[in-house]
Amino acid sequence: MTTLSKNRTQEDVRPLPAPDTVEPPAPPVLALRDVRVSDHVSDREIVQGVSFELTPGKAVGIVGESGSGKTITCRATLGILPPHFEITGGSIAINGTDIGTLTPQQWTALRGTTISAVFQDPASYLNPSIRVGAQIAEVIRLKKGLTRREARHGAVELLRAVQLSDPELVSGQYTYELSGGMLQRVLIAAAIAADPQLLIADEATTALDVTVQAEILDLLAELRERAGLALVVVSHDLAVVAQLCDEVLVMRQGEVVEQGPTEAVLHHPRHEYTRMLIAEHEQYGLDKFLTAKEAS
Ligand SMILES: Nc1ncnc2c1ncn2[C@@H]1O[C@H](COP(=O)(O)OP(=O)(O)O)[C@@H](O)[C@H]1O
Ligand SMILES: [Mg+2]
Repeated sequence: MTTLSKNRTQEDVRPLPAPDTVEPPAPPVLALRDVRVSDHVSDREIVQGVSFELTPGKAVGIVGESGSGKTITCRATLGILPPHFEITGGSIAINGTDIGTLTPQQWTALRGTTISAVFQDPASYLNPSIRVGAQIAEVIRLKKGLTRREARHGAVELLRAVQLSDPELVSGQYTYELSGGMLQRVLIAAAIAADPQLLIADEATTALDVTVQAEILDLLAELRERAGLALVVVSHDLAVVAQLCDEVLVMRQGEVVEQGPTEAVLHHPRHEYTRMLIAEHEQYGLDKFLTAKEAS
């Protein structure tokens, strides 16, 4: 059994690439090019040209006030636009594949294993009548094809990885027994259960108090570093995006008004709207972040 090479049949042998073949560089995990989304009911272009690229271990932030099109951009990327919404321009590619070509089956295979997401209000994504460990185990079992027993063990390990202090205990608990911060960790555990390459966090820390929010952001940063997870971080709060992201897009009313490396956008905002966002958030500690970055 172990001496595979001896028993290898002709069919098992894959043709080797020609020796002079140079591997092309891997396509970005996610590439949006001038993405436009329209709402056919209101006959409005809700997203008016969003472009960015994301490679492993990188993080892009989308910031802007409520209603600016951040969530619709995420939903377009995840293939879950509301009924009468449609991508009407540009393209979205995941690992080089245009999502417009994906069948429902291919989407199902992709979700969780390649691209995953966490939203605000974790409780609504979890089943209140099933222990949280069992819910995560089910994701692992379905997506990774493990046995029930292996999946149960994997769920506890994931709860440990998202820094829940007593993962065995939490695994056996129901949603109503957990705090908002714990629930968001559980949801992150479920989202990363099948080792996705890309995680979209849409207002994932918005409902949490400042201390817990900081802990969740640290956790995302750690996953990014440890697992090379690529992140799309969406928040109306510039400080959240500033803390995690290499690049920032500032959206207003469906339009990207400013985009660039986080440092540049924060230190030298060119658009008046960005300046306003920075001024608004200074009281919440963005100042401190900027000073810390400058000092380092
Ligand atoms: N399910 C929906 N049905 C109808 N309109 C929607 C829906 N979701 C969002 N919109 C509209 O699309 C625009 C952008 O919304 P959204 O992307 O959710 O903003 P953000 O996430 O930046 O707060 C808003 O005008 C909003 O009212
Ligand atoms: Mg939103």
